Amino acid sequence: MKNNNPDVLKRFVSKGVFPYQYAFTLLIPLRNIFLSPKQLINRLMLKENYTVLEIGPGPGYFSIKIAKELSKGKLVLADIQQKMLDYARKRIEKKGLKNVEFKLCSGETLDFENDYFDRVFMVTVIGEIEKKDEYLKEIYRVLKKGGILSISELAGDPDKIEKEDLRELIEPKGFKLTHQFGSNKNYTLNFTKI
Ligand SMILES: C[S@@+](CC[C@H](N)C(=O)[O-])C[C@H]1O[C@@H](n2cnc3c(N)ncnc32)[C@H](O)[C@@H]1O
Repeated sequence: MKNNNPDVLKRFVSKGVFPYQYAFTLLIPLRNIFLSPKQLINRLMLKENYTVLEIGPGPGYFSIKIAKELSKGKLVLADIQQKMLDYARKRIEKKGLKNVEFKLCSGETLDFENDYFDRVFMVTVIGEIEKKDEYLKEIYRVLKKGGILSISELAGDPDKIEKEDLRELIEPKGFKLTHQFGSNKNYTLNFTKI
């Protein structure tokens, strides 16, 4: 997707919602140095029958391998940009995966039942979410008790949140930090719904 618009370039390098015009940069395999889909699968502690929500999948760099792990379960992708969902869908359909659903979201609420997901995860997304408190309440609501909210943050992201700030943001919403992976630069924190 070629783009010559200087405003879009500006959005690409600054804080805020990642512009879909640069989605292709999220598919560079070099990203595995920071976090690979395989590492993420281990960190999510998945079971084949789990129902999993990925918030902000972009073009689905992690989604394909995660959907393959859920042979008896399903993966739901929820993004605020339809163009990102379209891109992810195209890549997922090419692989013949049938256990993935796509949901355009408003950025305020999550249109799912209570206690529905075993896992909710996001990679380099939380800093982009404008209404974090409202969203975290929604995540708490849709996650099963004992389920995990897993957040990965990577170096180079202009919206990156540091570990301690993330912990301070999430724990008061009814979660407990239960697992930590990676370094300060590139990390995953898993919070369990208590
Ligand atoms: C930097 S991209 C990361 C994409 C993917 N997680 C990855 O690591 O390749 C951030 C994604 O989050 C989405 N996003 C931003 N705010 C959101 C919100 N409030 N709800 C859902 N998705 C959101 C953007 O549209 C974009 O697809």
